[in-house]
Amino acid sequence: MRTLLVTGAAGFIGANFVHYWRKTYPQDAIVVLDALTYAGNKANLSAIWNSDGFSFVEGSICDEALLENLMQQHGINTVVHFAAESHVDRSITGPDAFIDTNIVGTHTLLKVAKRVWIDGRTDIPHHFHHVSTDEVYGTLSADDPAFLETTAYAPNSPYAASKAASDHLVRAYHHTYGLKVSTSNCSNNYGPFHFPEKLIPLCLLNILHGKALPIYGDGKQIRDWLYVEDHSRGIDSIINHGRAGETYNIGGNNEWTNIDTVELLCQIVDSKFAEIKDLKIRFPDSPGATAVASKSLISHVSDRPGHDTRYAVDAGKIMSELSYQPLENFKSGLDKTVDWYLNNAPWWQAILDGSYRK
Ligand SMILES: NC(=O)c1ccc[n+]([C@@H]2O[C@H](COP(=O)([O-])OP(=O)(O)OC[C@H]3O[C@@H](n4cnc5c(N)ncnc54)[C@H](O)[C@@H]3O)[C@@H](O)[C@H]2O)c1
Repeated sequence: MRTLLVTGAAGFIGANFVHYWRKTYPQDAIVVLDALTYAGNKANLSAIWNSDGFSFVEGSICDEALLENLMQQHGINTVVHFAAESHVDRSITGPDAFIDTNIVGTHTLLKVAKRVWIDGRTDIPHHFHHVSTDEVYGTLSADDPAFLETTAYAPNSPYAASKAASDHLVRAYHHTYGLKVSTSNCSNNYGPFHFPEKLIPLCLLNILHGKALPIYGDGKQIRDWLYVEDHSRGIDSIINHGRAGETYNIGGNNEWTNIDTVELLCQIVDSKFAEIKDLKIRFPDSPGATAVASKSLISHVSDRPGHDTRYAVDAGKIMSELSYQPLENFKSGLDKTVDWYLNNAPWWQAILDGSYRK
């Protein structure tokens, strides 16, 4: 049986991971540590809040004493580390929080894990899984091969640079101190609980409210998309079957330009308006309410500084070594995502009106 410390699980991917893990390994205990920044939302965990074997602690991964106390008190043997500042645009306007959480916070967590699991002891079974991003590899041009685990790091935004630094620290704690670590570098995720500042949920809610769909520049930037539960399944295979000290890319070979992504989303929402009668009443300002195509809302805005042109992840290593395969394609995953947002309006309404912070 495992006792997991999952950091940052009031956020998008961590929350999905905790729900996935609970369903897959109901016997395991889970402690969530989350600082509840603007991106953290206790409602993401409400379905399991009062369940046995689940605890939530509000606090920062920069708080060394709290971390040590939590790890000792709960007998943590597995850390799954999601906590991060994660929004590239915010890293451009305010990089300091990215340095504090993503670099100093990850280092604090590593330091405490080493102290509790290794210093002065032998043979304590443990695993530290670090969740990272494909953005550490920088950007690709149209004809470049996809990022491999061996691709040299070339981060372009303060967000990507801070994640790259944290990846190096995780690697160093394995090589220097023997901490049993693994790292995953995943492509762009989408799915339930995605905070509506990111492209897919932002555009989805704007369609429902009849607002413009802002596309940076010509919208030809390419991103590689993975349904969030397929990310959790990848982390699961690494924790259970991966080799200590290794890095695995997680992705689904699913490259789309931003403009095509938004157009596909528009088509899916249009088909929901055609199928589900009450959507016209619930969302009277949406183009679908008057049978107008949602893509009429697309509006090009000036590009962001240093915008990476293309990300593409080669997930061949996890597929061949750990038999990993994503289950969703982009259409099926986006369809599920749209259904989730349509069925969980109180969740996103609380974010839009700010009441989720209370
Ligand atoms: N979103 C993606 O597409 C994507 C892709 C690949 C990798 N990742 C990585 O996955 C992880 C999770 O991403 P996400 O999109 O769920 O992010 P998110 O912004 O939705 O969630 C981050 C969570 O971390 C918490 N947090 C922030 N600072 C903290 C601190 N100091 N101590 C404790 N908790 C803190 C926040 O409150 C929030 O709940 C990140 O490490 C990110 O780099 C994200």
